[in-house]
Amino acid sequence: MANSQSLLIRQAEIILPDNQLIVGDVLVENGKITTVDTHITHNTPIREIDAQGLTLLPGVIDPQVHFREPGLEYKEDLFTASCACAKGGVTSFLEMPNTKPLTINQSALDDKLQRAASKCVVNYGFFIGATGDNLAELLTVKPTCGIKIFMGSMHGQLLVSQEEILEGIFAQGNRLIAVHAEDQTRINHRRQQFAGIEDVSIHSQIQDNEAALLATKLALKLSKKYQRRLHILHLSTGEEAELLREEKPSWVTAEVTPQHLFLNTSAYQTIGSLAQMNPPLRSPKDNQILWQALLDGVIDFIATDHAPHTLAEKAQVYPNTPSGMPGVETSLPLMLTAAKEGKCTVSQVANWMSTAVAKGYGIENKGQITPGYDADLVLVDLVNYRQVKREELLTKCGWSPFEGWNLTGWPVITIVGGDMVYEQGKLNTQVRGKALNFKE
Ligand code: DOR
Repeated sequence: MANSQSLLIRQAEIILPDNQLIVGDVLVENGKITTVDTHITHNTPIREIDAQGLTLLPGVIDPQVHFREPGLEYKEDLFTASCACAKGGVTSFLEMPNTKPLTINQSALDDKLQRAASKCVVNYGFFIGATGDNLAELLTVKPTCGIKIFMGSMHGQLLVSQEEILEGIFAQGNRLIAVHAEDQTRINHRRQQFAGIEDVSIHSQIQDNEAALLATKLALKLSKKYQRRLHILHLSTGEEAELLREEKPSWVTAEVTPQHLFLNTSAYQTIGSLAQMNPPLRSPKDNQILWQALLDGVIDFIATDHAPHTLAEKAQVYPNTPSGMPGVETSLPLMLTAAKEGKCTVSQVANWMSTAVAKGYGIENKGQITPGYDADLVLVDLVNYRQVKREELLTKCGWSPFEGWNLTGWPVITIVGGDMVYEQGKLNTQVRGKALNFKE
């Protein structure tokens, strides 16, 4: 195991809850934050980090990732993905059920938890996937961050697109339901309509804004009918954002990915099928409306939807190219670069990427730099800029849609449960994260 020693972080710019900010010290003992003050005196010998000129944020909690283990380890595995997390300042992740076998019952969940305990260098939680005939499991398995429903953009057992089956899931229990909201009937129809087109940019027209809006409307309708806790994953269109602006019950949350904030359909010209994801990239106007919705609190948090595929898979011809992009190594620098450019504040980034996620998923004692909270922290450099370079990436897939982008806010040190898991470019692979607990 790692060096669970006491740590004193000295003279960092500390991002505190509720938009507060101080320059000061943070004392970490036994994996917890014990004191936050402008100056902490400590008599016994202790490891000190001189953090002058650096900014300390709560570690990122990424609420939507696909880490491919078990079954698809040639794309990514829990070790490589968690190392990429540590480098990106992500100290906890919530992982999706579309692995092999699917995470649709207690034994598959237990298997993932065991694998994660043995190899993850950051903290972990897993979704249980709805199949339409595993209602009993959806109600009883634990620990899980919630039920994932693919309303569209999926095939096989995990596709649950019929309203009456969806209603059966919304009607029973009170566990969080997270939806991938795209309307499969419309997608199927448009696939036929555009069949034979090999230009990957057609992807955004096949799975268009209307397909996303239809499914989001249905999920909202069911959530309202049963007052069921709903989370809308990777919101991608201006139309959905405006709908939520009009009618968003207090028990509904939504997230957006950096891809849908920073990229749009013009990316097909520059990076081709690397830009293919579900839901697809949209227009610059959608980027703008999503940003505004995030700033206004209509969208609650940022998730990467880290979905690695190999370059060989991505080099096939559309529609054989798989959808998805990696993201855990670049999400924090992308958002902090936006903050430096004046699009938002660093405190807002900390809220969207950590504090609000912990609240939304009922993850206790995480997401804030407050005494008593777990010492999951990231120290970033908001002065220097560095390009995203393919050869520096730790994700097994080995590419990023943001290669060449010049970003600031790169993590210098990442701390998980008081252990330094990443420091100045070096990983401590002895560190192990813990299973997250979710208050229901
Ligand atoms: O683009 C995507 N890829 N969206 C998803 O919802 C699934 C993911 C994957 O697993 O590859």
